[in-house]
Amino acid sequence: MDSTDSVVMMNMPNTSGGGYRSSKSSSLFTTIYNAVHLIVLLIAFSLSIYAAKTVRDLENDTNGVTGVRLSIGKPSPLASNENSFSFFRGSGVWHHKRRLEGGARSDFQAVSIEGDKTDFVYIFGGKDASGTYLNTVLRYDSINDSYDSMKNMPEARARYAAAVMKNDLNQNEVWILGGISAVTPGVDGGYDEDTDKVCPMVYNVDTDTWRTETGTRCLPSVVKDACAATGSNNAIYLMGGYGVDYSVLNSVYKLAGPLSSEWVKTSDLPDPRGDVSCAALKNSIYLAGGWHDTLTGVAVPYVSQSKLYSLDVLTDVWTSTHAEMKNSRGDFQLVANPIANSLLAIGGETNTTHNIGGETNTTHNRATQLATHHVEEYFVAHDAWEDRQLIPTARFRFGAAFKNGVFHAFGGHVHGGNHADALSSHEAYYPLDHPDVWVTVTSS
Ligand SMILES: *[C@@H]1O[C@H](CO)[C@@H](O)[C@H](O)[C@H]1NC(C)=O
Ligand SMILES: *[C@@H]1O[C@H](CO)[C@@H](O)[C@H](O)[C@H]1NC(C)=O
Ligand SMILES: *[C@@H]1O[C@H](CO)[C@@H](O)[C@H](O)[C@H]1NC(C)=O
Repeated sequence: MDSTDSVVMMNMPNTSGGGYRSSKSSSLFTTIYNAVHLIVLLIAFSLSIYAAKTVRDLENDTNGVTGVRLSIGKPSPLASNENSFSFFRGSGVWHHKRRLEGGARSDFQAVSIEGDKTDFVYIFGGKDASGTYLNTVLRYDSINDSYDSMKNMPEARARYAAAVMKNDLNQNEVWILGGISAVTPGVDGGYDEDTDKVCPMVYNVDTDTWRTETGTRCLPSVVKDACAATGSNNAIYLMGGYGVDYSVLNSVYKLAGPLSSEWVKTSDLPDPRGDVSCAALKNSIYLAGGWHDTLTGVAVPYVSQSKLYSLDVLTDVWTSTHAEMKNSRGDFQLVANPIANSLLAIGGETNTTHNIGGETNTTHNRATQLATHHVEEYFVAHDAWEDRQLIPTARFRFGAAFKNGVFHAFGGHVHGGNHADALSSHEAYYPLDHPDVWVTVTSS
């Protein structure tokens, strides 16, 4: 490491250098000044010793390792990022923002519209703290930090997927896809007596009006807890999720454009995923995490996943070779930052490592509904995930969106998933600009 910091510290104004006027009457001042100067020098000296020791410890800790290298841009090969991480690991800052108006809300999506030249994030339906399904719509102003109520959805809906499509008049429309509506909320933490919904509700942002699609513009089958994103081709892709009876899906349905008459099945997901999250960047849609037990024939097929897949919307081909998230999770949010060409994975739900009753319990019943604080960012250019500052409130089943350079996470659930524990809190992540500097621990 170079000593830029200590150089700055050493260049404090120097009284003996004659650059500053000194007289007998200010001798007390000079004494105090010199004392302060000495203390500053001592602190700088101690810090430099501490820094040198830290680097030595780091070298000693990594057996057989000989050095620590800083570089601009990530060194190649990039495949294993075990020994290489951003110098700005853990960076960024979360701040509390105005709570959701109308109280706690979970199991919904928050949607922002890229390039719409507004400050708004839209929040649709979900469930409240008594488990009641909502049809209310909030519009959050990300600059004024305030909410407005918009036109209600035609019907209450939770656990749906959402994506934006421009209609033939070039107006932005938000498609609410699949999900469930329930007359009777279920037992806390359990399944609701739900009614699966296959006909999309479409919100016209420009006119604040709703319509419900019919016929072949309804989904061909039941899809809940899926994710949806819009490709650079203005087509909506609905990916994974659960079918009737919570079978885990690998299906991908595509609505090719605003005048398209039906949803068509396109290239399947490489592996089935429920409670999954996805986001579009350039010509790709990235899908990460979600729930699926790769063991077959298990009664409770829910293990949180960490793989990242991408679909090239120009060729409809999936890539499965991306770096995996450091933390497995489902029911989280994967949010694109088009400025940095990166994805932020925020919070979510994980499972315990061991089966209830031990590994001999062949039903593989793991404890789930554990909310996580983990936040990590995927850089397309580096094919690597980096830890970012943890979200203060661990949450899952929440909504999140990127607007005006800031990531917003609204509502959701803490551990356990009880209705009464639904959150009204809203936290926002401010990424901090920094040079593309990476630390690599090298072996001889
Ligand atoms: C800004 O927020 C305040 C509440 O904090 C609200 O009263 C006001 O109407 C908002 N202004 C706009 C332009 O939305
Ligand atoms: C979830 O369960 C799987 C399978 O038992 C385990 O490999 C994984 O580590 C668990 N996840 C977490 C975050 O503990
Ligand atoms: C094994 O898992 C099942 C749930 O699938 C659970 O009901 C049962 O109690 C577990 N067995 C033991 C011995 O804990």
